Amino acid sequence: MIGAGYVGLPTAATLAHFGHSVVLAERDERRLSALRSGRMPIVETGLDELVADSVAGNRLWFTDSAVEAVKGAEFVFLCVPTPQSADGSADLSFVQQAAKEIGTHLKPGAIVVNKSTVPVGSATMVEQVIGRPDISVVSNPEFLREGTAVLDSLNPDRIVVGADDPKAAAAVGELFAATAAPLIVTDTTTSEAIKYASNAFLATKLSFVNALAGLCEEVGADARDVLLGLGYDKRIGFEFLRPGPGWGGSCLPKDTQALLYIAREAGYDFSLLAGAIASNDEQLARVIGKIRTACGGALDGTTVAAWGLTFKANTDDRRDSPSLHIAHELAAQGATVRAFDPTVDPESEPPEDLRGLELCGDPYEAATGAKALVVLTEWDEFRWLDFARVHSVMDVPAIVDARNLLDPSAVRRIGFSYSGIGRH
Ligand code: UDX
Repeated sequence: MIGAGYVGLPTAATLAHFGHSVVLAERDERRLSALRSGRMPIVETGLDELVADSVAGNRLWFTDSAVEAVKGAEFVFLCVPTPQSADGSADLSFVQQAAKEIGTHLKPGAIVVNKSTVPVGSATMVEQVIGRPDISVVSNPEFLREGTAVLDSLNPDRIVVGADDPKAAAAVGELFAATAAPLIVTDTTTSEAIKYASNAFLATKLSFVNALAGLCEEVGADARDVLLGLGYDKRIGFEFLRPGPGWGGSCLPKDTQALLYIAREAGYDFSLLAGAIASNDEQLARVIGKIRTACGGALDGTTVAAWGLTFKANTDDRRDSPSLHIAHELAAQGATVRAFDPTVDPESEPPEDLRGLELCGDPYEAATGAKALVVLTEWDEFRWLDFARVHSVMDVPAIVDARNLLDPSAVRRIGFSYSGIGRH
């Protein structure tokens, strides 16, 4: 396994849990030394137990060398990042680098598995970089969500394997035999397209939900009940139906842009997807508008408490986080932003992406002196706080709940003004 990030580490731990012998290569020294000393470099529920169990059972090892990791391996998973380039396309340099590095060291007949999210045609590109006729390159996209990566990896909805060689496809599918998941075997291009299609669909669904919530506010309908009415239709379902401050994270924004780029290159006008992306930007602006209104019409010179900075709860990931975008935008518009997130330590040197925010040690400290409190990330612990205390420390008791996390009547009873997303 090459890369111990949000995909590689849970995947390695899961495969080891299934009984395979896994060597995980990670170049980042801090990540590697954390793993070697039994600490998890990422926040992920259940990961520490799974890793510890496999290390103790001699099924999982760590190394800093990709070359070392691939020695004797029958399967080599590429789990390296594919960040967004300036033009929206996926940057494949890490994939190319990894393929180049391992190419001559692969055992004859080894199967290279592309787990990183890569544009259609990338399996062929990796094959060309490796340049060996005995090596098959297979696409096996990941669908795990951060925060529930272990659960998702142990119980996947489906396993997708794209390969030109049916034997290689069957062998990769066999690695996941312990899951009861349906196996879809297809060509590499189709497999790569399935990944982008899934994330683009999810993003479009959320943009629809957020736009609908905006409409509900205008016409006086309650979005929560509207969505309840929608969700019971089995064709629609309840998953991915929660309005929020907009969708973000390390995948949806970059994958939708990459698919749009692929469509543009192919001469296809995917205006629906472009609309879903534009609608997501509008959602951020709508939430900022709500906060401005809660602050009496102007952000300049005011103090806002921001609860939550990660792109969703149960992860420490702030990449393309709508919560963080909003916090910075408030600061850019002149507000002092007092921020709390359970995964951020205010005592350590603030990482670059948090500069400009006043980092606080708990939610009460963040709320102190604020003219508005905005719930940006749906951390469960925010529900159970002492809101009478929050009320007493705030300058003006106004709540903007960008995740519809709190009980409006309970906080209104205490004396807060409350504004959710599409909610009465
Ligand atoms: C996503 C895909 O779900 C996963 O299958 C893929 O492999 C990687 O990308 P992830 O980035 O971990 O997973 O986040 P996800 O849980 O999908 O959430 C994406 C964004 O949508 C977050 O900003 C989240 O807060 C938001 N969201 C999600 C909502 O606003 N409402 C919802 O109902 C669900």
